[in-house]
Amino acid sequence: MSHVRHVLILTVLLAAPASAQNLDSLLSRMTLEEKLGQLNLLSAGGRASPEQMQLVRAGKLGGLFNVMGAENTTPVQRIAVTESRLKIPLLFGLDVIHGYRAIFPIPLGEASSFDPEAAEATARAAGQEAAAFGINWTYAPMVDIARDPRWGRIAEGSGEDPYLGSLMAAARVRGFQQNIFATAKHFAGYGAAEAGREYNETEISERTMREVYLPPFKAAVDAGVTSLMSAFNDVAGVPASGNAWLTDTVLRREWRFPGFVVSDWTSVAELINHGIAGSQAEAGRRALTAGVDMDMQSSIYVDSLAALVQSNRIPLAVVDSAVMRILRAKQRLGLFRDPYRARTAPPATELRALARRVAGESIVLLKNERSLLPLAKAGTIAVIGPLADNKEEPLGPWHTQGRAEDVVSVLQGIKTKVQTVLYAQGSGIDDTSKAGFAAAVAAARQAKVAVLVLGERGDMSGEAASRSSLGLPGVQEQLLEAVAATGTPVVLVLMNGRPLILEWASDHVPAIVETWFLGIEAGNATADVLFGDVNPSARLPVTFPRVLGQVPLYYNHRNTGRPPDANNKYTSKYIDVPVTPRYPFGYGLSYTTFGYSNLKLSAARARVSDTITATVTVTNSGGREGTEVVQLYVRDEVASVSRPVRELKAFRRVTLKPGESRAVDLRVAVRDLWFIGLDMKPVVEPGTFRVYVGPNSAEGLEATFECIP
Ligand code: BGC
Repeated sequence: MSHVRHVLILTVLLAAPASAQNLDSLLSRMTLEEKLGQLNLLSAGGRASPEQMQLVRAGKLGGLFNVMGAENTTPVQRIAVTESRLKIPLLFGLDVIHGYRAIFPIPLGEASSFDPEAAEATARAAGQEAAAFGINWTYAPMVDIARDPRWGRIAEGSGEDPYLGSLMAAARVRGFQQNIFATAKHFAGYGAAEAGREYNETEISERTMREVYLPPFKAAVDAGVTSLMSAFNDVAGVPASGNAWLTDTVLRREWRFPGFVVSDWTSVAELINHGIAGSQAEAGRRALTAGVDMDMQSSIYVDSLAALVQSNRIPLAVVDSAVMRILRAKQRLGLFRDPYRARTAPPATELRALARRVAGESIVLLKNERSLLPLAKAGTIAVIGPLADNKEEPLGPWHTQGRAEDVVSVLQGIKTKVQTVLYAQGSGIDDTSKAGFAAAVAAARQAKVAVLVLGERGDMSGEAASRSSLGLPGVQEQLLEAVAATGTPVVLVLMNGRPLILEWASDHVPAIVETWFLGIEAGNATADVLFGDVNPSARLPVTFPRVLGQVPLYYNHRNTGRPPDANNKYTSKYIDVPVTPRYPFGYGLSYTTFGYSNLKLSAARARVSDTITATVTVTNSGGREGTEVVQLYVRDEVASVSRPVRELKAFRRVTLKPGESRAVDLRVAVRDLWFIGLDMKPVVEPGTFRVYVGPNSAEGLEATFECIP
């Protein structure tokens, strides 16, 4: 058997194009049909169907996705490299979003760590595990900026900030691409869906597109990402999957992106629904000529474009460029040399240890009155709620091969820390029965503290999971109120894929812990934090509003001509709710406290080519070792275009012993303070910049410097 395989690989090696020159000669030998075949990508239901195998044999498929396991990828690859005329290997794609089988925190949760190295480590591990199962290409990272928590896919990205989002995007690309190809998605503006309604239209000015939505894609491109996925949405009337400004002007001409663009699932065919194409062929022509190289799931390129190319309505050169981009990617991945890419998964213990560490780093402590947390590892603890003994939901909305049986539930995690635990489910996640309330209340009455684990089902966020209300689903809030009414102190542990509206809880519950969906080690990581074995250090990557009517609410907004003033009715605010968020971007508590003093800038004046260093003394003023995320924001006070009140430009995680003080440096290159000027070009204008250094986007010490010409 292995001898046969050896011979096969050798055959491939001999036939394999190894250089750019060889790719040119390969292209010259391809028929138009084979060229369009390379641009065709189809989903398999776990394994390739006989029809798909026939397409591979005929050279009419460039890649497959959702083929699960090397035992299923290998035979199809063998057909491609031995039975097809030109023996071109296939790409095998999969949505490896936050883990393959070992599931890590959802990306929004992981972004809370403000630790790009953690994101790189989980992406590397996920990529290695996926590669061991035959995958060579992931549809991640999702780098869409999201300012609207109604939009369920906010869970898959890094939140609302372009700077944090860019660092996370680059880190994940680096991590994945140590083993498999990455795809930055969804290009672009998908997160701006109007009203937070999935797949909805977007209205994004070129300035906001360039300043807010595009930077994480640029960061992914600079980190060497192989592919980008074109989005479902339209941008001011031009669908992203047929938008030459995005995929050609910006991506290829300005950024010099050498990789290829894949459409989203049937987004080429959907150009018909968008109303910019009257036929399949026209939809294909719009997409391909705009720069979308590979057609996912519409089969339009392969089925409908040959005639248009033959009649010159699509220049052959456009087809050739798209094919070459895909062939070059295959070559870069080494597929011509090693089409089967046998890989070994990281040891399970290593994956678990990483999952636990990063999950611990992703938990945000939102409230902790009178230091209710951490809990002592003694006495009776009531553990209540539909997500407490739940092993399915911590996997989150997009968990690939993750399995509930691999998950440590919060109840299990707590049981490893303390002996006497009373468990009551209390209610379902979104049903309306209160039948379980009495048992929950009884358990709370007997306990010194009640831990309520509440939130969303995994599938309430992610794709096609927009919500029109952001409270706790079902009767969970009533359950919380009933348990709180016992007088037993309550710790609210949240599991969810988006910011929730938590008004009652924020006013009445002494301790609130945001755990997002943490993956296989959810229970252990949560218990580590609840009992103080891990001191929480995560910060919100997204604003938590007070009420839904404030949405969209984000920290890096502009000032308006009438900024909110409590003493002046005619200023920008509401008459029925404060204008501020419940929890601002960058916010999160620790079991210790940190003080900031002595902010100094390295210079009072700086040129665009200079770097400013802000130095601040951070003191651990509490009783435990802890990690602070020191954040630096900048405001361009006067510019030709109104600038945000604050923009994150640097941060650092700093671990300090109790009583320890440290001078912390944060560097900002002045050239990174660019914005899109009146002429739509990036510019740094001379003038005063205000620098804020502090624990979140709403606090901090201030200093200024002048940018001089
Ligand atoms: C999603 C993409 C995903 C693709 C393939 C689409 O519905 O929008 O994010 O990569 O499916 O599974």
